[in-house]
Order: sequence, then C-alpha cells, then structure tokens
Amino acid sequence: MLTESSAAVVKATLPAVQAHGEAITGRFYQRMFEAHPELLDIFNRGNQATGAQRSALAAAVVAYAEHLVGVSNLPWGPVMDRIAHKHASLGITPAQYTIVGRHLMAAVGEVLGDAVTPEVAAAWDETYWLLACELVAREARLYHTAGIGEGEPVWRPWRVERRTRETADVVSFTLVPADGGPVPDFVPGRYVSVAVDLGEGRGQQIRQYSLSGRPGAGHWQITVKRVRGIDGAPDGMVSTFLHEQVAVGDTLRLSPPFGEVASAPGAGPLLLVSAGIGVTPAMAALEHLAATAPHRPVTLVHADRAGGTHALRNQLPRLAAALPELRLHLWYEEDGDLIDGLSAEVSAGRVDPELIPLTPDAHVHFCGPLPFMNQVRGGLLRRGVPAGRIAYEVFGPGMLRGDA
Ligand SMILES: Cc1cc2nc3c(=O)[nH]c(=O)nc-3n(C[C@H](O)[C@H](O)[C@H](O)COP(=O)(O)OP(=O)(O)OC[C@H]3O[C@@H](n4cnc5c(N)ncnc54)[C@H](O)[C@@H]3O)c2cc1C
Ligand code: HEM
Repeated sequence: MLTESSAAVVKATLPAVQAHGEAITGRFYQRMFEAHPELLDIFNRGNQATGAQRSALAAAVVAYAEHLVGVSNLPWGPVMDRIAHKHASLGITPAQYTIVGRHLMAAVGEVLGDAVTPEVAAAWDETYWLLACELVAREARLYHTAGIGEGEPVWRPWRVERRTRETADVVSFTLVPADGGPVPDFVPGRYVSVAVDLGEGRGQQIRQYSLSGRPGAGHWQITVKRVRGIDGAPDGMVSTFLHEQVAVGDTLRLSPPFGEVASAPGAGPLLLVSAGIGVTPAMAALEHLAATAPHRPVTLVHADRAGGTHALRNQLPRLAAALPELRLHLWYEEDGDLIDGLSAEVSAGRVDPELIPLTPDAHVHFCGPLPFMNQVRGGLLRRGVPAGRIAYEVFGPGMLRGDA
C-alpha cells in the first residue's frame, strides 16, 4: 500500500506521467544503456528497435500506480506472474532493480522538469519500489523452485543432440545437458530462455522458446521458426543464428523452464487452438497427454498457411494413435493436403472462431500471432466460454487486448 500522501500525489500526477510515457521510456533506456552497456546483452534488441518492449516496463509501472490508487480494475496478479516468469527466465537480479529504478526516476525528472517536486519524486519512487519488491519476491520464489541458489546464474549449457528440419522455415533442436546432469521435468506450456553469442562483436541476445516435446523424455526439444525480415526489416537475430550457425554437438545456454501458462490445464475436455509456430505449446500438451492421460478428450484446432508449413505435423499420426479421443481440425489457407495416416477435418481459409468445436466444460489454451489470438479469444468469450477457463501464450511482450 502507498502512504496516503503519496497516493494523492501519484493520483494527481498520473495524467502527466501517462501523457509523457513515450518520452520517459525513450530517455530511460538511453540513460540506462549509456551507464550500463552490459544490459544491452539482456534486453531484446529486436523489441527495442520495433518499440514492442520499449514501453512495456514504464507502462507496467503506470498500470501498477493506477492499481494502487484504485483507478483501474485490471486483475493485477496475472500481469505480475507474466513479468516475474519472464524476468526469472532472463536471470534478472535484485541489484538490477536499483539500476532500473535510478534511471527510470531520473528520466521522469528530466522529462517532466520542474513539475517533479521532491514530494512527486518521493511518491513515484515509493510506487516503483513497492512494485519492484513484489517482483523481486516473486522472482526469488521462482528461482528457489527451479533450484537456483541466491546469486547463482540461471544459465546451464545444453548440447544439441539432434537437429530436425520440420518445414522449410522451422527446425527442432533436441537438447541434453552438456554437464551430464539430470534433465529437469516441466509442465507443458513452459518455455526456456536461450542465450546466444551472435559473434562479430554483436554481443549476446536472449529469446524464449516453448518446450515442444514430451516432459520426462530424457531430453528437451525446442522448435524454432526462422523469422525473415519483411519490407526492409532485418532478419530475426536469434532465430536466424540458430538456423544458420547451430549444429549437432554445439552448446547452447538455456534457463530452466518458466512460464505462468500451462497448455494442458484442468482434467476434463481440452481444446487447443494454435496458428503457425504457436503450435509448440500445444504439441507439448499432446505429447504429455499421450503419455499420462491418453483417454482425455482433446481437440486441436490448428491454422497454417499450408500443409507444408505446418510444423510438427508429422507427429500427429503417432499422437492420434496414442490419444483415441483426439479430434483434429486443421485450417490451411493455401492447400489442404494431408500426410499419410493422418485423419483430420480440413477447412480452407482462416480459422472461423464460430466453428471451433466447444464442449461446455472444456479448458482452452491458444497461441499464435496477436490478431489471431484476439479474434479467437473474442469468439470464445462471445460464445460463452468463461474467461477463467481460457489460457493463452503470447510469443512476444505483453498480454491480449482487454487483459492488460
Ligand atoms: C513465451 C514465448 C515462447 C516462444 N516460443 C517460441 C517457439 O516455440 N518457437 C519460435 O519459433 N518462437 C517462439 N517465441 C518467439 C521467440 O522468442 C523470438 O521472438 C523469435 O524467434 C524471433 O526472435 P529473433 O531474434 O529471430 O528476431 P528479432 O531479431 O527479435 O526480430 C523480431 C522482429 O523485429 C524485427 N526487427 C528487428 N530489428 C528491426 C529494426 N531495426 N527495424 C525494424 N524491424 C526490426 C524483425 O524483422 C523481426 O520481425 C516465443 C516467444 C515467447 C515470449
Ligand atoms: C519494477 C520494475 C520492472 C517492471 C515493472 C518491469 C516490467 C516488465 C514488463 C511488463 C516486461 C514485459 C513482459 C512480457 O510481457 O513479456 C518486462 C520484460 C523485461 N524486463 Fe522488466 N520490469 C522491471 C524491472 C526490470 C529489471 C530490473 C530488469 C533488468 C535490468 C528488467 C529487464 C527486462 C527484460 C530484459 C525484459 C524482456 C524484454 C525483452 O526481451 O524485450 N526489468 N519487464
């Protein structure tokens, strides 16, 4: 809780902070990276360039302030969970909160100038630290659960045991611990952060990849789509590096599995809806159910450009044989060819949310590009699926419209 006097000051200055959010964010990153160039290796340079993440941090502080002073009814728990899991997967430390806090407050002062009286500065500092302490505590719990001791790095070396070309643009990497230690179990839907040194003086970059294989398989698998730059934008840094530079026998640095979203939640009927590379958490769910709950009713609705671009499709005949209650509905925009031995309903075009088969008590998980996810979520809510039974993963910063 904010002190009463700080709450009044924060409430009064919220509009000014919101109105200058972009400028504050821009100055904040500029200052912080000048003073701490080593942090460039932790932040996602693609997101910095496109602006996707730039505003996320400052926007979260403002949203938290709104929550504290009671001018927002945003459910705050899921937002905190998402941030804490992402931070934990990146190995963010308590000491780094001091750096971020210092530069964020300095940026507020620079941009708002004389409006930032000592009382205003103190009220926002209090807000920042309330949020920071909550995140540090959540992250400490996540590190502890993952078996990472205080001050220990999250990174562990994993050796590429196999590379499997899934489609022209998608490769799976099968990974085993390079230190010979055990392979930790994971809940389907969890992701790992992968840290790579890009070489040629380009430093390190970190990205998240959902574990796409079976928990308990004795190895981990990630399935990576190569991101190609369009309209003059550069190719994706890490996905291109993984595709072009990482071979069998090479070592990658991986975090433990993190993520607040399970892709096989609950126990009754399960509906998985995915598009493109968003199929990876759904495949982990199917692999897990095939091994642990083969009679659970499960439907996979998957959308792709064409049969040939549908990653991990060749796993479906085996999974369908292991899961007698599996129903497949595939939507292909360009062609509807099926591989041998796969029985599925195939539709042409893009997924129509009205045609997604629903059972009243189903748990739903979905993942794909943002417009697809907004459309699917809107359709499911309109058709009466309670929000509490809908889980989703966003393959980038942020949450869906209406949630954050
Ligand atoms: C929880 C989670 C799970 C995920 N799971 C998977 C998964 O299972 N499989 C998978 O393939 N991906 C997954 N992702 C996505 C993955 O983490 C990466 O975002 C993806 O691989 C792209 O990273 P990149 O380094 O190749 O691209 P980046 O270099 O980050 O580029 C991203 C985009 O920004 C554009 N861009 C970069 N710089 C500029 C610039 N200067 N100007 C204009 N545009 C620019 C690029 O053209 C590209 O379109 C997941 C993400 C999250 C958050
Ligand atoms: C109170 C303080 C902080 C808040 C409110 C905050 C908020 C956020 C938010 C909202 C995201 C996006 C999460 C998502 O949806 O994926 C994020 C990601 C991230 N945060 Fe923080 N953060 C804070 C502190 C820090 C600190 C101390 C660091 C370390 C220097 C840090 C580094 C990162 C990085 C590297 C990402 C991922 C960004 C990317 O890959 O583009 N954050 N944070």
